[in-house]
Amino acid sequence: MTSYRDFHRRSIENPEDFWREEARRIHWHTPFDDVLDRSNPPFARWFVGGRTNLCHNAVDRHLAERAQQNALVYVSTETGIERRYTYAELYGEINRMAAVMRSLGVKRGDVVLLYLPMIPEALFAMLACARLGAIHSVVFGGFAAPNLAARIDDAKPVLIVTADAGARGGKVIDYTPLIDEALARATHQTPHVLLIDRQLAPERLNAHYLVAYEPLREQFFDVHVPCEWLESNEPSYVLYTSGTTGKPKGVQRDVGGYAVALAASMEHIFEGKPGDTMFTASDVGWVVGHSYIIYAPLIAGLTTVMYEGTPIRPDGGIWWRLVEQHKINLMFTAPTALRVLKKQDPALLKKSDLSSLRTLFLAGEPLDEPTAAWIADALGKPVIDNYWQTETGWPMLAIPRGVETLRSKLGSPGVPSAGFNLTLRNELTGDACAPREKGVLTLDYPLPPGCMSTVWGDDSRFVSTYWSSIPNQQVYSTFDWGVQDEDGYVTILGRTDDVINVAGHRLGTREIEEALSSHAAVAEVAVVGVTDALKGQVAMAFVVLRGAQISADSSERARLEAELSATVERQLGAIARPARVVVVSMLPKTRSGKMLRRAIAALAEGRDPGDLPTIEDPAALLQIREALGGIGAN
Ligand code: PRX
Repeated sequence: MTSYRDFHRRSIENPEDFWREEARRIHWHTPFDDVLDRSNPPFARWFVGGRTNLCHNAVDRHLAERAQQNALVYVSTETGIERRYTYAELYGEINRMAAVMRSLGVKRGDVVLLYLPMIPEALFAMLACARLGAIHSVVFGGFAAPNLAARIDDAKPVLIVTADAGARGGKVIDYTPLIDEALARATHQTPHVLLIDRQLAPERLNAHYLVAYEPLREQFFDVHVPCEWLESNEPSYVLYTSGTTGKPKGVQRDVGGYAVALAASMEHIFEGKPGDTMFTASDVGWVVGHSYIIYAPLIAGLTTVMYEGTPIRPDGGIWWRLVEQHKINLMFTAPTALRVLKKQDPALLKKSDLSSLRTLFLAGEPLDEPTAAWIADALGKPVIDNYWQTETGWPMLAIPRGVETLRSKLGSPGVPSAGFNLTLRNELTGDACAPREKGVLTLDYPLPPGCMSTVWGDDSRFVSTYWSSIPNQQVYSTFDWGVQDEDGYVTILGRTDDVINVAGHRLGTREIEEALSSHAAVAEVAVVGVTDALKGQVAMAFVVLRGAQISADSSERARLEAELSATVERQLGAIARPARVVVVSMLPKTRSGKMLRRAIAALAEGRDPGDLPTIEDPAALLQIREALGGIGAN
């Protein structure tokens, strides 16, 4: 067995040989000519000239050996529905969905936007797109209409696939009014909207533009749709993510590199073997859902468990019962879910037989030590933190137990994964940091397979956003702070930009500020992330009103603050709703007009903002302190 050190060194020193070998994990319809095209940095093209298909690799390829193995186990505690699909059945459903999409004009290179809850059809639709060579863009079902409209205008889909409703915590959320509003707001005219009728909101299905899925599925029940063999670098999907500006970026991913990277990660990091069962508790609208609910487990021949519901309904034992019932071997979720579960009766964990479970993986936000220690102790199994981003598609830092059984270190997601040439750099000089010196996590060119190819429709934004922020170096910035110890373990110390992480969901404070600014009463606003014991961070907004004095009437202020919060929810969705909106008469700024966000965040967390020699008016700080009444977020 090679050591991690040799394994990683080889992936960096000789990426061509390293990834040529890894590429054998997937099926190539036509072999590639070159492993890596470095002719146009910072763009990298992997497996140039090779032709393959993600759906073929995820499904068709397994039919010879595992047609009768479950590919998908679907459980919804919202509707009480449980369904299983073997690989053969999944093949049938994907072909039906692909045939329906084809009948609506979808072809190779077209974009299909999916606005779907956690239902099996979301998986069918993603893989049907892959089969047809169409590009899916999944929009998280919790996003509000203006958000959806912005994505429709950027992605320009030929088809939207949606459902009558989503469900969360026993509440039904009608989707069709959202779709109505989004279509009305968008400039782009989407020719068709395909509707999956879950019969949760039946009275809503009259809109003239909706095409019902079920009758078409019947019509195309026995149709087989051949896989389009795509060149490895053609786009497979676009997934929008928040950054520093108000406009989300479409992260574009390729086909071949993504398939190879995910297959490699299943062996090196997740140790998932064909026939294993993996339960990733995320949503198909996020990157973790794309990679580890859908593509990686299926490419590697596992059974994937897709779950609609919360971790505590009907009670906090539900996930552990799922482990017992479905003999789950690998589980993957975000630390927030565990902090929620930690508050439940600990006996619930002991009630289920968890002997099938080998490893619990956690990602998406910092894993705090008490939570890590609690769950490792309660389960008696390895708990593996891993760090990555929508942009990278798979873990950048992890404990590659499939390579070497390295030990975990509390507080660190681990060491760089294969192909990630990671350096911590000083943000002012661009120089590499010494061990234990704080710096920005950067990646040298080329990014390994599976990472974003570009920003959808905007190559220059890919270069200017990701490859231009470190002085004197053209390196990729993660916009995360960290430190690395002598053994290569990295600890993440928060974002360098205005992105916050609420319950594992990435949000741009700028987007929330723009939503608040759209309210007629708002003159100026600053949104900051504030530490929260349960959600990791929450958003807090400080607002200056237009031309008015702050009302002395506290009920009037409370009404306005609630109204402003509701504005954010209407524009962006419930996940972006600030925990508090605080009205002040001025915001702390430097004399040159730069908002002192870090000082605001420090005050909101009850910390000392430190010396601020450039502040224009220190009274602004006092006001925030008073408005918060000495309370931090906790
Ligand atoms: O700040 C880092 C944080 O989440 C960001 C990426 O979020 P997203 O694009 O939604 O992708 C999530 C994929 C798991 C990162 O820039 N983050 C992610 N994982 C960790 C983390 N912070 C600390 N520890 C982690 N394990």
